[in-house]
Amino acid sequence: MPRQLFVTTALPYANGTFHIGHIMEYIQADIWVRFQRMQGHTVHFVCADDAHGAPIMIAAQKAGKTPQQFVADIAAGRKPYLEGFHIAFDNWHSTDGAENHELAQAIYRSLKANGLISTRTIAQFFDPERGMFLPDRFIKGECPKCGTQDQYGDNCEACGAVYSPTELKNPYSALSGATPVLRDSEHFFFQLSDPRCVAFLEAWTQGSNARGVPHLQPEVYNKIKEWLLPREDGRRDLGDWDISRDAPYFGIEIPDAPGKYFYVWLDAPIGYLASLKNLFVRRAGDAALGAQQFDAFLADPATEQVHFIGKDIITFHTLFWPAMLQFSGRKVPDAVHVHGFLTVNSEKMSKSRGTGLDPLKYLSLGMNPEWLRYYLAAKLSGRNEDIDFNAEDFMARVNSDLIGKFVNIASRSAGFIAKRFEGKLGAITADGQALLAALQAATPGITASYEEREYGKALRDIMLLADKVNAYVDQNKPWELAKQEGQDARLHDVCTVCIEAFRLLSLQLKPVLPALAAQVETFLNVAPFTFVQAQNLLGAGHAINAYQHLMQRVDVKQLEALFEVPEPVVEKILPGGEEIAPVIAIDDFAKIDLRIAQIVNCEAVEGSTKLLRLTLDVGEGRTRNVFSGIASMYKPEDLVGKLTVMVANLAPRKMKFGVSEGMVLAASHADEKAEPGIYVLHPWPGAKPGMRIH
Ligand code: MSP
Ligand code: ZN
Repeated sequence: MPRQLFVTTALPYANGTFHIGHIMEYIQADIWVRFQRMQGHTVHFVCADDAHGAPIMIAAQKAGKTPQQFVADIAAGRKPYLEGFHIAFDNWHSTDGAENHELAQAIYRSLKANGLISTRTIAQFFDPERGMFLPDRFIKGECPKCGTQDQYGDNCEACGAVYSPTELKNPYSALSGATPVLRDSEHFFFQLSDPRCVAFLEAWTQGSNARGVPHLQPEVYNKIKEWLLPREDGRRDLGDWDISRDAPYFGIEIPDAPGKYFYVWLDAPIGYLASLKNLFVRRAGDAALGAQQFDAFLADPATEQVHFIGKDIITFHTLFWPAMLQFSGRKVPDAVHVHGFLTVNSEKMSKSRGTGLDPLKYLSLGMNPEWLRYYLAAKLSGRNEDIDFNAEDFMARVNSDLIGKFVNIASRSAGFIAKRFEGKLGAITADGQALLAALQAATPGITASYEEREYGKALRDIMLLADKVNAYVDQNKPWELAKQEGQDARLHDVCTVCIEAFRLLSLQLKPVLPALAAQVETFLNVAPFTFVQAQNLLGAGHAINAYQHLMQRVDVKQLEALFEVPEPVVEKILPGGEEIAPVIAIDDFAKIDLRIAQIVNCEAVEGSTKLLRLTLDVGEGRTRNVFSGIASMYKPEDLVGKLTVMVANLAPRKMKFGVSEGMVLAASHADEKAEPGIYVLHPWPGAKPGMRIH
């Protein structure tokens, strides 16, 4: 019976390009999808950008773009990665698409109608300058335990303490520097603690799908059961889930709740459904028809819904998401497959430190994407465990397995078939038949491994078969047979066995190496491989095409280039365009009285396009009037309330527009044309007006 599958990978945040961890997840899912298709099953394989949330909204602001434009720009860069690594999604959508707005609101309405939505007023930090509630990661301050400065709102990087943002000492907003204030707001909650939800989740997390496959891997269930099951005191950690955020927020509006938006993690998984619906509509070429087919597909009990995700987002996918679906009367997932994290040369990935493996750089160096697919597949299992990309291991594995064991089978035999036998296969005698029968007999074990995502095991088994074929080649030495009189029939036999074996191995490897398999299909002059065909052979008389080299070896120089950290570009120009001034003594410096000043007012200066009039407080009990040539860079309202640095003991200077009682410090390039811009200094939070700068 052909299966019908709906397969997804996690929706990546649309605030950055893909890293190698994303690519690993897509390769894992893509192999599974290609395998299912080779079994004759129907698969809809979709993904999307996870567009919403405060971090993306803030990143867009910083970039001077609307969030929609920001996300669209990220989405526009996805293609080279996906095509480059042969990742065959049927659709790539966005959680900000119309389908997702509709579906999220519909699901919410159903949950509400089911009595599973409640509201509660909670106090949260609010940035009075930005006029918004602050997400935890945008609140900083001193660690309440060890006093280290500039720690995030949830934990201390210095001592490891975990706390809530309200416990920070001298908290400040990472957005504006302002001191946040506690403000009440009504939040919406999905009542996961409702006995109906608890009962459902206890059953679902331990349950199996219609094929008898557990919804969750055992190690994943063990992780979440600590949350789900009652502790010794009878209480559970699983509480109600806060699903709302206040405007301004980039997200989906909550129906009948002005100014309230769904928290990004509510609408993100719904994006799986939205992408599928978008695919159906696109294929139908008609919105109503597509929507109808989408509904019918999900209502069909035969449909299997399978999610591939990483270990950091387990709770969202194994508790919140199934409960959302169940209590809005929808199909629940048939399986959530969790993988571990990828490290590169044993280091956690970090963009700032320049480690990791840049997928586009990999491709631009001309490295074969299927080397990476093969290597990662060889390391992957069905368990939730971390894997490492190790450069030396990568080269050894690819060169010895793919080139040494696999490709060589074809390159050592194809030439004789072409030159000596007019490109046609011949008859096979008993020893060859036995070898090919062994390859065919191993296929069900290999398909079982693919099904269970035990790709490492599948590839080990395939390479053991390749070893057998190579042993046969070494025993029969076609290159010697070719030189001997009267051995034509045996040479034809041996080379035919090699080609038939090569076909079976290529077929078995096709989920991992789709592009190479396509080349082999052309070389062998056959229709696209499916697993059903593993029972057949090409047979005597079948004509093959000329052999073209299928794959290069990994060159160590490519790996060196891949991991070479570019030297920082040292510009051979003067710092800021100016020679450093002659040395002075500390006493000279002490003559200049620099003070923290608060800009209590700021106005444009009539008749000047350059100047702004600043009213500054340096803690003297009076304010000062200072003119500054920064009007090209700042609007008066940008500056009011901010702190800056001024020269407080500069002789007052009479200007065309009035007297200037000091000077605000600002940085600029000596050559204004070479590099325009003037930048006012802004002290770190904590400095107070009147403090002297030493
Ligand atoms: N936007 C959320 C997912 C929403 S799904 C409805 C998110 N995005 S993410 O970009 O941070 O991560 C996307 C996927 O990449 C997740 O499955 C995550 O586990 C995976 N990976 C992130 N870093 C990884 C590695 N280093 N290794 C392997 N996978 C990793 O979470
Ligand atoms: Zn600390």
